[in-house]
Amino acid sequence: MAIKSICCLGAGYVGGPTCSVIALKCPEIKVTVVDLSKERIAQWNSDKLPIFEPGLDEVVKLCRGKNLFFSNDVSTAILEADLIFISVNTPTKVIGNGKGRAADLKYVEEAARMIADIAKNNKIVVEKSTVPVRAAESIAKIFIANQKPGVSYQILSNPEFLAEGTAINDLLNADRVLIGGEESAGGKEAIEKLCSIYEHWIPRKKILTTNTWSSELSKLAANALLAQRISSINSLSAVCEATGADVSEVARAVGFDSRIGSKFLQPSVGFGGSCFQKDILNLVYICQCLNLPEVAAYWQQVIDMNEYQKSRFTAKIIESLLNTVSGKKICILGFAFKCNTGDTRESPAVYVAKTLLDEGATLKIYDPKVEEIRIFEDLTHPTICESPEEIRKNVLVCKDAYTASEGCHAVVVCTEWSEFTTLDYKKIYERMMKPAYIFDGRKMLDHEALISIGYHVQTIGKRLGKPLVTRSWSTNSIA
Ligand code: UDX
Ligand code: UDX
Repeated sequence: MAIKSICCLGAGYVGGPTCSVIALKCPEIKVTVVDLSKERIAQWNSDKLPIFEPGLDEVVKLCRGKNLFFSNDVSTAILEADLIFISVNTPTKVIGNGKGRAADLKYVEEAARMIADIAKNNKIVVEKSTVPVRAAESIAKIFIANQKPGVSYQILSNPEFLAEGTAINDLLNADRVLIGGEESAGGKEAIEKLCSIYEHWIPRKKILTTNTWSSELSKLAANALLAQRISSINSLSAVCEATGADVSEVARAVGFDSRIGSKFLQPSVGFGGSCFQKDILNLVYICQCLNLPEVAAYWQQVIDMNEYQKSRFTAKIIESLLNTVSGKKICILGFAFKCNTGDTRESPAVYVAKTLLDEGATLKIYDPKVEEIRIFEDLTHPTICESPEEIRKNVLVCKDAYTASEGCHAVVVCTEWSEFTTLDYKKIYERMMKPAYIFDGRKMLDHEALISIGYHVQTIGKRLGKPLVTRSWSTNSIA
């Protein structure tokens, strides 16, 4: 029997876009995305979707109410479904064993218990959320312990490789789809059923099937390798600044080697986003549990290098501004963790803003897609802030880059929004305090043009008319 009805538990950044595209490409399948949050479902059913993703609005408009539904009625959706995606979040644990490293599977476990409780017929349950290797085993234990007569389960791993900002394109034109399952007859049949959904638009040769553990590990491995490239080029950016080499030239030169390739070598203030750090921490934790300390230390270094990059960049701002930002006004351009998204999870901008505030600066922040409420929630989060009132006093969220930079001593670019390349920097310069500084954390602006206007410019991985940097930076240097 082919799949007629799909349910997705979790209407987040992954569940929402993934199921919208499945609904678009499989008009004969009913797709219901459910979530415990009433507010989130109301947003999915409104004209203003809860997440900004280019192309998503159009897909949702085409399918919603036809074969795509967003609902809080979890029971009905589970009862009706032949196949259930688990797309709830899997954050890093904040308490208990593995705190700060291990993935917290409590929502995945709750989802599995809910399915076991409600289901009345056979279900294919698909891990879409990123989970530790062998998580499917834990889910299976819950199903076995709560088995009802006439109900059996097949558990598949089908990790998502979509990147925010390009999610719809990544789903429509996926490099590959990965499906892991049991090697039994039942497992193979379930894999085939999920394959047949993706085959509506993905060529069969791009659908890879593996055993469950390989699939689970491949997701962690893909994110770890991607993040490793960024940390590698960022480590070289420090060497460039100290020597006079230009990291873009180095990236281009090495990227021409087809064995290395040119993608994911853009130096930055550091990587952010909900996945890279969380997944590497999870990988490190798994390695430690498996008594593989050398492997754990190897991957931990990717995160340490990212922390170093964020602190190095922020320290450079402070040092350039005569070693003090106390009482100075600084404009932050971009707050999202990358362009084309309103997501700020693990955004390096949060680190930069928080450090400058701790040093006594006043901030004016502009991001084209991040809402004011989000910025204040991030900066006043109890894990990084003791005095929310102070933050509210010292941060102004602005409607555009011109207002944000007016009267400031420095402009700091944290996100690579393309609109930042076409701003009238002469106009901005005229309204700033002098000397006017620009710190380009994305190496995206025309530095020579800025210098000729009169700015003092600093960027990542390139020395701009500065003497050789001989001192070394460390997180402690700004503590
Ligand atoms: C996903 C994956 O699940 C995560 O493992 C992966 O690493 C990144 O992508 P994401 O879609 O980004 O997470 O998470 P989020 O946007 O927070 O969405 C999760 C949704 O699940 C939320 O809307 C939340 O309300 C919902 N949820 C969570 C439930 O409906 N039930 C729960 O028990 C927990
Ligand atoms: C990532 C993976 O790309 C995706 O496959 C996975 O499913 C989820 O995690 P995402 O976090 O949405 O996607 O964005 P990505 O484009 O990978 O960027 C992550 C971070 O790295 C951003 O902060 C980005 O600015 C930074 N980055 C990316 C760089 O600093 N340099 C680069 O060359 C590329």
